[in-house]
Amino acid sequence: MRTKYCGNIKIIDLHKSVIISGWVNKIRNFGQFIFVDMRDCTGIIQVIFELNNQFVFKKALSLKNESCIQIKGIVKERNVKNKNPKLNTGEIEILAQEINIFNISDPIPLDYLNNNSDDLRLKYRYLDLRKFTLIENLKIRNKVTYLIRNFMTKRHFLDIETPVLTKSTPEGARDYLVPSRNYPGKFYALPQSPQLFKQLLMISGIDKYYQIVKCFRDEDLRSDRQPEFTQIDIEASFMNSKKIRNIIEQLIKKIWLKILKYNLNKFPTISFNEAIKRYGSDKPDLRNPIEIIDILNILNKKKYFDFFKINSSKKNRIALLCFPEGEKISRKKIEKYCNYVNQFGAKNLFYIKIKKYEMGLEGIQSSIKSILNEIILNKIVKKTGAKNGDILFIVADIEEVVNKSLGMLRIKLGNDFQICKKNVWKPLWVIHFPMFKKDNFGNFSSVHHPFTAFKKNHENKIFNDLEHAMSDSYDLVINGYEIGGGSVRIHNAKTQKNIFNVIGLNKKDQEEKFGFLIEALKYGAPPHAGIALGLDRIVMLLRQTNNIRDVIAFPKTTSASCLMTKAPSRIENKDLNDLGIKISQE
Ligand code: AMO
Repeated sequence: MRTKYCGNIKIIDLHKSVIISGWVNKIRNFGQFIFVDMRDCTGIIQVIFELNNQFVFKKALSLKNESCIQIKGIVKERNVKNKNPKLNTGEIEILAQEINIFNISDPIPLDYLNNNSDDLRLKYRYLDLRKFTLIENLKIRNKVTYLIRNFMTKRHFLDIETPVLTKSTPEGARDYLVPSRNYPGKFYALPQSPQLFKQLLMISGIDKYYQIVKCFRDEDLRSDRQPEFTQIDIEASFMNSKKIRNIIEQLIKKIWLKILKYNLNKFPTISFNEAIKRYGSDKPDLRNPIEIIDILNILNKKKYFDFFKINSSKKNRIALLCFPEGEKISRKKIEKYCNYVNQFGAKNLFYIKIKKYEMGLEGIQSSIKSILNEIILNKIVKKTGAKNGDILFIVADIEEVVNKSLGMLRIKLGNDFQICKKNVWKPLWVIHFPMFKKDNFGNFSSVHHPFTAFKKNHENKIFNDLEHAMSDSYDLVINGYEIGGGSVRIHNAKTQKNIFNVIGLNKKDQEEKFGFLIEALKYGAPPHAGIALGLDRIVMLLRQTNNIRDVIAFPKTTSASCLMTKAPSRIENKDLNDLGIKISQE
């Protein structure tokens, strides 16, 4: 139905006869001529209909935007004043000789020239996808998966599918459940990840596994989270964490090089504790150079604790951010930032504006001036390297509150002052996460998942120091996004049971939920490790969009519904009866 794609016709095709198929992008009728911009998935080309070809001209008069047509015509050079340098095909046009109208379009419900509401875009997703930016996103996604398959196959990783109708894997979200007709009252869970299956494949001796796989998580959605999303899931036997990270680093470098022509440097590695201390986050955006600096040892006296209203019996931190645009930050703005950190538990946000440091206390403006003297000020300035024009934002509170508040303020200042440049990429590995976190009731849960192994020499902490037990785990972070996470796994049944005990799984639940894994670990399970990368997030970064929906063909709303198909939807009573399900309330 075509000899050429619209966007691929070039000046070297001059005078050739071509057949193109696609959609009417725009029509301009000049009486003697009709110009139609015709579009397919590769681009746009101008087609000209002349009055002297009456039969074809008449048909062109009936066209409407977005109609689907086929044109046979001759490639002509546009006259100089009609050339359009903005278009790839701007030097040429097609003189229409024949037209075949496949389908005249009704007026479409989206306005391509203006912004449409998200709901409308999702309801008519198939029309929204006609836009080049979205098509390009899907093309890049395709290139990325091609590169991954190529890369993994060359390194002897086997692409193996794992079940979709399965049992729950604890990845921290709720499961999507599928009722079983054969076993009324019983449910399959859609996988939150193929975690257990890939470990079982290692026990089978598969050695190296990968899969580009859909995962399902019922959790609160955000701009980088969808209820069904795609992982690049990887597992290998007899490999330590360094080796896994090395392979992934090579893969990511290759993707950035091939897609963006960007050379990534070696990825730095920092521990979870250090990331929290320096950035207040386990996924810091390293494009933002500001770091949290401790000044507790400068202000480590009761009178200062009293001033800041902190309880000296707790684990406190007094720390600050030194921000260079102090002159642009008015009192009103400081108040705004104070309200901002309040939501993370900080009672107050103190500040010192360094105006003329050489004038000592006279040269600063500060909300803690009453406790400052020249010596303290000098120490703070020396520690932070602050210069005239800088503002120091200080939080004094319990450690977690200071970390969270200054971490979030760091991000906010970075966004407000556009510190993070586009087209700059700062990957890093965050390693050695804590094994467990404790809730307010004293219960422990796994920070990664419960199949994660201890960091070397931390295994004994399971008996006496759970809160400081670290895991042999790693997250890949790029520009503030968590792109992937993985770990070395537990490969012995006894340790695995110990972990289940710590997280409060009783014997019955251990047996019911993970009995198959515990048993498998008894039959010569090899040491193994792995990782999963978020494909959607990788493509988001490559396409520089901050909405995950832009890189998924048919995404869900933030409340996990599909506005196009209207899923989820009601089920007939008869079908519910077959499944042994009764809806108790609507
Ligand atoms: P984790 O839960 O960290 O690890 O997931 C791996 C990566 O998947 C991406 N991701 C998501 N992307 C979009 N929407 C979501 N709702 C979503 N949830 C996660 C993130 C994340 O880093 N089984 C382990 C991996 C392993 O240990 O090998 C796992 O699933 O980019």
